[in-house]
Amino acid sequence: MDIDVFTLFPEAFDWFAGQRHVRNAAARGMRLECVSYRDHTPLSGGQVDDTPFGGGAGMVLRVDVVDAALRARYGRDPVELHGQRRVVALTPGGRLLDDELASELAAERALTLLCGRYEGFDERIVEHLATDAVSIGRYVLSGGELAAMVLCDAVIRKLPGSLGDETSAVEESFSPALEGAPEYPHYTRPAEFRGWAVPDVLLSGHHARIREWRLEQARRRGSGEAKPLR
Ligand code: ADE
Repeated sequence: MDIDVFTLFPEAFDWFAGQRHVRNAAARGMRLECVSYRDHTPLSGGQVDDTPFGGGAGMVLRVDVVDAALRARYGRDPVELHGQRRVVALTPGGRLLDDELASELAAERALTLLCGRYEGFDERIVEHLATDAVSIGRYVLSGGELAAMVLCDAVIRKLPGSLGDETSAVEESFSPALEGAPEYPHYTRPAEFRGWAVPDVLLSGHHARIREWRLEQARRRGSGEAKPLR
């Protein structure tokens, strides 16, 4: 998979790119690159945003700047890109990111992520240059960079070779393997701490019973029967 992140702050991704699962995926052919809007702006002084028509607070990322950056990267009219790669604008009002969407995006050959800033995008970016608008939650961040990293993380951990144990991304919270339920609880040593004991079944070595217990725990969490996680 090939991921391009368009941003005003490419250096913000340095930490993320150095994480083990991202490096593992990179070693298996995943490519993550950042493109700076500022490097491609046709405006003087590195300008990329502007005040909103109609007035109001904040600055809005300009459509001509994003168009120029996409054009420089892909060598064609960005509208013609749509058959070849998903172009995802990160915006609070977009489709909510969940496990299903992460799996859908993980199956793509190439992704382009567009990060907005402050008041976000000129709407024509979302309408004409992007194929998708995605939100990581109904709250507003100061820019799309953290949202892009969250999306990349959720997608990259699903790529083969990203996690050490291939099964860990299969049976995890909200996955089809757990019928969309949150994951069952995990425990490790010590088996007892301050009188808090690990459930006996997990120490029994009886794999079928352990499996049954885990699926039941996930089901109870999903149905709201179990105590909600704080
Ligand atoms: N940009 C600002 N806030 C965002 C959010 N909640 N999700 C995605 N992108 C954003």
